[in-house]
Amino acid sequence: MSDYQALHDASLQDQPGFWLEAARQIHWYQEPTVALDDADAPFYRWYPDGKTNACYNAVDLHVNTGRAEQTAIIYDSPITGSAAKLSYRDLQQRVQQVAGMLADSGIIAGDRVIIYMPMVPEAIIGMLACARIGAIHSVVFGGFAANELAVRIDDCTPKAILAASCGLEPGRVVEYKPLLDSAINTATHKPDTCFILQRPQAAASMVDGRDVDWTDAETRATPASCVEIDANHPLYILYTSGTTGQPKGVVRDTAGGIVSLKWTMKNIYGAEPGDVYWAASDVGWVVGHSYIVYAPLFHGNTTVLYEGKPVGTPDPGAFWRVISEHKVKVLFTAPTAFRAIKKEDPNGEYLKKYDTSCLESLFLAGERCDPDTLSWAEEKLAVPVIDHWWQTETGSSICTNFLGVEVLPIKPGSPTKPAPGYDLDVLDAQGNSCPAGEIGALVARSPLPPGTFSTLWGAPERYVSSYFATFPGYYETGDAGYIDEDGYVFVMSRTDDVINVAGHRLSTGAMEEVLAAHPDIAECAVMGAADALKGQIPVGLLVLNSGCSRSHDDICTEVVQRVRDEIGPVAAFKKVTVVTRLPKTRSGKILRATMRAIADGEDWKMPATIDDPTILDEIGESLGQIGYPQQS
Ligand code: COA
Ligand code: AMP
Repeated sequence: MSDYQALHDASLQDQPGFWLEAARQIHWYQEPTVALDDADAPFYRWYPDGKTNACYNAVDLHVNTGRAEQTAIIYDSPITGSAAKLSYRDLQQRVQQVAGMLADSGIIAGDRVIIYMPMVPEAIIGMLACARIGAIHSVVFGGFAANELAVRIDDCTPKAILAASCGLEPGRVVEYKPLLDSAINTATHKPDTCFILQRPQAAASMVDGRDVDWTDAETRATPASCVEIDANHPLYILYTSGTTGQPKGVVRDTAGGIVSLKWTMKNIYGAEPGDVYWAASDVGWVVGHSYIVYAPLFHGNTTVLYEGKPVGTPDPGAFWRVISEHKVKVLFTAPTAFRAIKKEDPNGEYLKKYDTSCLESLFLAGERCDPDTLSWAEEKLAVPVIDHWWQTETGSSICTNFLGVEVLPIKPGSPTKPAPGYDLDVLDAQGNSCPAGEIGALVARSPLPPGTFSTLWGAPERYVSSYFATFPGYYETGDAGYIDEDGYVFVMSRTDDVINVAGHRLSTGAMEEVLAAHPDIAECAVMGAADALKGQIPVGLLVLNSGCSRSHDDICTEVVQRVRDEIGPVAAFKKVTVVTRLPKTRSGKILRATMRAIADGEDWKMPATIDDPTILDEIGESLGQIGYPQQS
């Protein structure tokens, strides 16, 4: 039996034993005696009687065990032309001051703190400072608009917000403070305090009595020590897109998060303490939480915090420069980043300028990895390129390869095999297992392993109805795919209205809500169409109110701006057209899958239930006018 198979079998045959053993690798104030409490399934509780602290495991533990002078964070910011290194000792000093700053303003364990920050060290310091005192952080990605921030403020009711005066995108300064002020004005809940980090690129104006200068407050603060935290106390809430405009607040508990992430570093990524690990993502996404911040720090690695893009900052050699300059051993990013580099430098000329021999592996996730991109990366970098499948809900990979256990042969298009604790199956609509090779709903038998979400913030019923109701006894991933006769998993598409744009998970339903609110629009549909760079991009079809005689171009421009203002530029909503009607079934359901197939240039069949087949010709023409199907 292969090493991988033995490991995976052990994780399913004796789940509690397997995860209690893994739990020995972390620091506890009180070791758990029980692995799993399943009395209130599907609300499983891992390590219910343990006590630990995520910040202690990420920072103080290393200072106390000989890594104080090792670099913990390399901040590399081509967009500002600056760079900095923080040792574990430096990090401890900053984190205890910022934790003190929060505590001095009355924040205690269980209080929520929103973090709305660009990719600067203070974003990580803020997260760890919350963890240090048991405050629950909720990081909001900087590319979201004020309205999205307001929705999150009302949902998790933070006592404080940590923000910076601005973020930087190529060619423009994104002022965060006006967005923050507008979000707080819109929200019903008001935070007591906003700590504002003033960056030199833009000065934020302060609101008296509410806003506090971060640097002053940090300097004045009384340093705070780590507090003992119950294992199931939430470490953070991270909002992710569902099928509606109301995002889902994924809750990760403390101990499960530490144990599972620590386990992955050696076994999946093959990383040893001291190695340099770089996740080229953003702290606002789950990949950033897990692999820019927590996992590498739990494992005593050096993590790279990169404020830049794969191309344009300044050129498609940016990643190779960072790898060679900082001796990166493992790189983790989204396939879209590699597609962007490949598009600008197909022959890898920029790669030749740098010595990247330190790199031992590349991990890709966030969206389906097309075999072309995988083989280009393999050929150019000459290292294993591992596609692994992930969700915000799971916090680490569901399927992957295992560099520290056994490197399984790679099948392009597959994220390989299930991680420990994942008992995967493919079910048809009736809940029966599909034979090998047949597509169905990808599900995992409950319980999920430690580190996966414990509930949705303030919405336990939605946790059950969204994930555990369709197939009793299973977690429904929301992805469709198949498992082949060798046990390799293939993830093909979503089963809901979620799309993946440049590795960012977005809701077409949320975009439809914005479009539908436009006064001239009677009906609309947004779907994800294939895009050579971003994987998918949203495409909108609008039906105008009868009698509306306004210019179609004006209306399209207005709705594009509305999505940008209400959801954010990250939605990349630019393609929209007006049609006379939407194709529907006789019972009134919009035929999104057929429209998507037309937009993608795929073969499609006339749905038997369509109310008026002629409408599809018009849809095809309208999509053609805005560039679909794309010419490769
Ligand atoms: N703050 C404010 N705006 C942001 C932002 C942020 N943190 N991140 C992105 N945006 C904006 C961009 O400036 C862009 O605005 P524009 O429409 O005015 O040009 C818009 O949101 C769309 O951004 P993006 O999807 O990133 O597209 P891009 O064309 O700027 O860059 C890539 C394309 C491929 C280079 C980029 O998506 C990338 O680096 N992807 C890496 C993948 C990744 O990090 N995935 C995360 C999950 S692992
Ligand atoms: P997020 O929660 O933002 O991480 O997005 C999770 C979704 O991204 C999954 O449900 C999949 O649809 C998609 N996804 C992530 N990684 C992969 C992968 N390796 N292959 C295919 N789809 C993926």
